[in-house]
Amino acid sequence: RIAWLNSRKGTLPAENRIVLQRAGLIDPNNIEEYIIHDGYEALGKVISGMKPTEVIDEIIKSGLRGRGGAGFPTGLKWKFVAQAKGNQKFVVCNADESEPGTFKDRLILEGDPFSILEAMTIAGFAVGASEGYIYIRGEYALARQRLEAAIVAAKEMGFLGKNIFNSDFSFEIHLHSGAGAYICGEETALLESIEGNRGEPRARPPYPTTNGLWNKPTLINNVETLANIPAIIREGSAWFKSIGTPSSPGTKVYTILGNVNVTGLVEVPMGITLREVVAIYGKGMKDGANFKLAQTGGSSGSIIPASLQDTPMDFDSFNKAGVALGSGALLICNEETCVVDLAKVLMNFFRVESCGKCAPCRIGNQRAYEILDQISEGIGSLSDLDDLELISDNLFQLSNCGLGQTSGTPIRDILKYFRAEVEAHIRLKVCPSGVCSMSGHK
Ligand code: NAI
Ligand code: SF4
Repeated sequence: RIAWLNSRKGTLPAENRIVLQRAGLIDPNNIEEYIIHDGYEALGKVISGMKPTEVIDEIIKSGLRGRGGAGFPTGLKWKFVAQAKGNQKFVVCNADESEPGTFKDRLILEGDPFSILEAMTIAGFAVGASEGYIYIRGEYALARQRLEAAIVAAKEMGFLGKNIFNSDFSFEIHLHSGAGAYICGEETALLESIEGNRGEPRARPPYPTTNGLWNKPTLINNVETLANIPAIIREGSAWFKSIGTPSSPGTKVYTILGNVNVTGLVEVPMGITLREVVAIYGKGMKDGANFKLAQTGGSSGSIIPASLQDTPMDFDSFNKAGVALGSGALLICNEETCVVDLAKVLMNFFRVESCGKCAPCRIGNQRAYEILDQISEGIGSLSDLDDLELISDNLFQLSNCGLGQTSGTPIRDILKYFRAEVEAHIRLKVCPSGVCSMSGHK
């Protein structure tokens, strides 16, 4: 098998794969296969010949931005942690992927667990941490099993634990499973959960970079963000910057779902358009239907109408267009999709997953869901739309954490792009898409 893998080295991937370059190709339980495919080359390079500041400079120069959804510059975050005062620092991998429709991190962890261990160890070296935690979604049993085995194998090889590569650098990684709460993917709720407390977000600032786990400086990065690190160190920041767009270099992993001919996971350069994703990777709309909208995830995403299909999918172009790239879900919907039902499903998710700590989110999401439910049952009134707008503004402006601050997005988007369709439910008692509960479809 190893000879076969050697013969295939460099022949895959066909299309610009960075974070998924080994997924599906190597045996994720076999560290030797990881090593044959460039594994631990980056860590070796870092430990044998780079200073921590040089590692951070390389990540800054690469332009890598956080792939959890927010797009914060990764190198800058590393620099903040490295510069923070304190002898004890931590590296945390946020693997509590819970965004509706998103399963990219799961596939990275299941397919290439060593890449995350290698990246966290490089991060530990760069920021001055000797301990790391992977906070993994409770439902990701196979990913956890593979990570556990990978930690044992990496330690046996001297790539993790004491005196890595026979240097004086030591780094340990612990696994911590979530218990099914979406809010624990919010970084400060995640830290509370590791500390053994109820998973409720803290107020920020201060940010985890200075006041994180047990109040110590902590670097928190998403799985996909970390999966880019070894390749950037190995191939150099100039190589990474040559992929994607100038302000959002690299690739993005998307989960394509819904009314397309082919669903699944793709890794494509930043800047590709939604129309291209649907045509090339989704192999077009199912049954020749028309594209109506795409939903790019739960709280991290937006509802993207057909008029924005040609907007380059990168952080800045999407921000400029007033929509969010999200964490990687692409739910593609045809014209038989009722926007009231779609928003109702999302608001139901938020009202259930709100941690309840602050009133705008705890009450706002519940009330928005009830109003949408009434509209979809044909008992809404036009003044409900003013209430929905007010609730969504309050959610954006008054909520404590990212969940509440973005949960008004579905309401804002359907009223901005599909207002006539929502009003038809109220004035005409008709669903123009012909599929919602008002039309007898539950
Ligand atoms: P944010 O934009 O406030 O922060 C992003 C990151 O940058 C955080 O790690 C934060 O600590 C850091 N940061 C920001 N400003 C900083 C500063 N001045 N100093 C030091 N560090 C700083 O976004 P937030 O609220 O952390 O996350 C919200 C995002 O999470 C949403 O945009 C959404 O896309 C995403 N999300 C992802 C999910 C998933 O399953 N992947 C689920 C739900 C939300
Ligand atoms: Fe909890 Fe929502 Fe407030 Fe965040 S915004 S702290 S999820 S109640």
